[in-house]
Amino acid sequence: MSGKNWDRVPIDAQSIDAPLSLSAVFLVVTVASEQSALAKVASVLGELDDLVKNVGFRDLGGRLSCIASIGHDLWDRLSPGRRPLELKPFAPIKGAVHSAPSTPGDLLFHIRSERPDMCFEFERILLDRLGSGVAVVDEVTGFRYFDARDLLGFVDGTANPTGLDLPASALIGDEDADFAGGSYVVVQKYLHDMQAWARIPTPEQEAIIGRTKIDNIEIDDDDAPRKSHKSLATIEDADGNEYDILRDNMPFGRPGQNEFGTYFIGYSRYLWVTEKMLQRMYIGDPPGAYDRLLDFSTPHTGTTFFAPTRPMLQALVEDAQKQLPAAR
Ligand code: HEM
Repeated sequence: MSGKNWDRVPIDAQSIDAPLSLSAVFLVVTVASEQSALAKVASVLGELDDLVKNVGFRDLGGRLSCIASIGHDLWDRLSPGRRPLELKPFAPIKGAVHSAPSTPGDLLFHIRSERPDMCFEFERILLDRLGSGVAVVDEVTGFRYFDARDLLGFVDGTANPTGLDLPASALIGDEDADFAGGSYVVVQKYLHDMQAWARIPTPEQEAIIGRTKIDNIEIDDDDAPRKSHKSLATIEDADGNEYDILRDNMPFGRPGQNEFGTYFIGYSRYLWVTEKMLQRMYIGDPPGAYDRLLDFSTPHTGTTFFAPTRPMLQALVEDAQKQLPAAR
């Protein structure tokens, strides 16, 4: 271990490996069709780095970070003719019992900090800068719940890739050299039926998730009649190689409104991996044996984005600005 105090080091914009935080905001906006709105968005994306510094430097211990990700349609407006290989709109899924909708979104801002007030301040300034050319279509403030549990009571995020496995799972490599270091991002806002979940006994909940509830130990369900969430979300190729994604899910809710949710966010090197996880959850393996987590969790949004690296974002903005009217 070096003697460096990591708590005091600013986190660059677009850092996908930023640490799990106590607080997060997931902000999804659409961009109006006028060229002036696009020009404004390009100029704000160009200054994102400075915006993170302006708020983050006020308390480096707050560990503020922000990742801006761009949806398929906005990508084509900013950079016609040159796009990451797999980038496409979220494809809705229709299972026999449960469906995943596809919902609009041009930009996703994933804002994280140890301090809810820093997330709030950053979002406030960001929206103020973006102005009337964007419309907020979804805004969720998430929080860390005890030992990183979801509101169903299970520890969420344990199997995430760490160390060298993190870039290998979450960041594009040589297979798409122009976009290497970027990441595909899929988000879904889930609402839980807490009353129904509370009615089923803990061993059954554990079989659904694939881990024990209190001490978070993996349950081997190879011979179980029905695969758990953990097993359905495990993707292997014919040679037995596993493909992972990086999840930074956060609970959110308003007990007074009976609103209890999980904001799912997955960063992946290959979009097909996240899509395959969703297929297995909704269609089932074998088909029909869908993820029973969905009997208690309903997705209200579903959107795909691409998170460029910091230099990629700068280059994208500079190229776009050559074709656009100057932003006011
Ligand atoms: C594992 C919760 C949605 C992918 C887990 C675990 C929990 C959990 C508690 C076990 C601990 C862990 O390894 O993190 C949830 C909840 C969801 C949700 C509450 C929404 C209601 C999703 C979705 C995907 C996904 C939509 C993918 C598209 C995964 C993966 C694992 C996992 C890859 C790790 C599997 C392994 O052990 O290798 N999830 N999840 N989850 N989940 Fe989810």
